Amino acid sequence: MLSDTPILSLDALSKTFTLRPVFGRATEVKALRNVSLDLMPGRALALVGESGSGKSTVGRTIVGHHTPTSGRILFEGQDIAELTARADQMRYRQAVQMVFQDPFSALNPAHTIRHHLLRALSLHQPEADPETALRMILEDVELDPVSTPSKFPHELSGGQRQRVNFARALAVKARLIVADEPTSMLDVSIRKSILGLMQRLKDDRGLSILYITHDIATAEYLAEDTAVMFRGQVVEKGPTAQVVGAPQHDYTKLLRAAVPDPTLRLTGSDAGFASLARRVREESAHPVRALREITPGHVIAEHAEVAHA
Ligand SMILES: Nc1ncnc2c1ncn2[C@@H]1O[C@H](COP(=O)(O)OP(=O)(O)O)[C@@H](O)[C@H]1O
Ligand SMILES: [Mg+2]
Repeated sequence: MLSDTPILSLDALSKTFTLRPVFGRATEVKALRNVSLDLMPGRALALVGESGSGKSTVGRTIVGHHTPTSGRILFEGQDIAELTARADQMRYRQAVQMVFQDPFSALNPAHTIRHHLLRALSLHQPEADPETALRMILEDVELDPVSTPSKFPHELSGGQRQRVNFARALAVKARLIVADEPTSMLDVSIRKSILGLMQRLKDDRGLSILYITHDIATAEYLAEDTAVMFRGQVVEKGPTAQVVGAPQHDYTKLLRAAVPDPTLRLTGSDAGFASLARRVREESAHPVRALREITPGHVIAEHAEVAHA
């Protein structure tokens, strides 16, 4: 039975980056503006948006690479900023693992796959027989348990390396995986198999997944729920069937129209469409002043009025 308490909640999370002064003036980037999201245990939430909308900042703030400027991150209802005991902080850092876009970035080129995974296993599953545990997690991510351990990261394909990254999350007994565009650097032909792997981790092992992607079409494949971000704000969220299947916010409609779809006659080269797109983007960047519920759980942002001079 699924619990009603989200495994992870973001409550009005904001993050402002202050850039180093150029010519004496510091610039601020409001990367996140009051982002509120709930991720239910054993489910996947797709966080969708174009490049620069703040998706990676959400992921990196969750795993502690950035400190929020304001707002809270709740893990199973507990504010992680209030975890003062080191053991509790460690438990959170273990439970929430990030898988990055670049499958190389988290792997040390000087070490074999065995080394990477045994290290994680010895720290987090000290009671298990290492060789048996190693074989099992490799099988879980569909890598050959005989030939893979002795290989170095560069001897694997991009898709295999990404599987190693998921194996490592399993080795540390992660309960929530933040997957930041995990397939976008991989060959198109193997993207679906990585999505399939994430789906099995969710459905068979009960892992929760925050699936970050710029490709709204892939949300339908994996995620029960979808949130759409633009310029640091959530503009629409709810069940994927509704958000992707019947979007209500103009920006989400725009994202859907940009997905190659033979049934849609809109194209980016159409001059009318281009000016419409410009207006929608301008209006959607304005501060969210309220959320309007369309159907239970499906909400869209209402933006502050555009101030015309
Ligand atoms: N470490 C950082 N320092 C300064 N600005 C940053 C940093 N990380 C992200 N940003 C800025 O925050 C905004 C959101 O970036 P990001 O979260 O990477 O978006 P996305 O992942 O959706 O492409 C962008 O304007 C980006 O330039
Ligand atoms: Mg990103």
